[in-house]
Amino acid sequence: MDIKIIQFQSHGDDRGSLVSLEQNKNIPFDIKRVYYIFDTKDGVRRGFHAHKQLKQLAIVLKGSCRFMLDDGNEKIELLLDNPAQGLFIESFVWREMYDFSEDCVLMVLADSEYDEKDYIRDYEKFIETVENDS
Ligand code: TYD
Repeated sequence: MDIKIIQFQSHGDDRGSLVSLEQNKNIPFDIKRVYYIFDTKDGVRRGFHAHKQLKQLAIVLKGSCRFMLDDGNEKIELLLDNPAQGLFIESFVWREMYDFSEDCVLMVLADSEYDEKDYIRDYEKFIETVENDS
């Protein structure tokens, strides 16, 4: 599956921790957009889409949440709970996010601006598209 966990260097000392993100260095693309999800209500499941082009990298800055990732061949479940870790997701990966802790702040870096036309929001259509491409 076209996903990868990236471990960031954490500059920790007795004052605390610091992680630095730089495009085309520890982030494997030009950063064109940053958004974050917070105040997520109990029991909510989000996402339910894949992208045709977009590459993204998700970092849980605070708290935790789970990702279900599906490329049409296999499904993977991941717990993100470490602000020094990033989940890199390439295009054509269906994602759902859930089990958000009350304090969860999920930040996402993206290699393109928001474009609704890049979304595949219908799971059946997603499966058809990946099956036709393989
Ligand atoms: P949505 O795609 O439903 O979020 P998720 O994939 O986490 O379930 O997005 C929620 C709303 O925010 C929707 O109206 C689109 C808007 N939005 C933007 O305006 N810009 C963005 O960069 C993103 C990701 C969403």
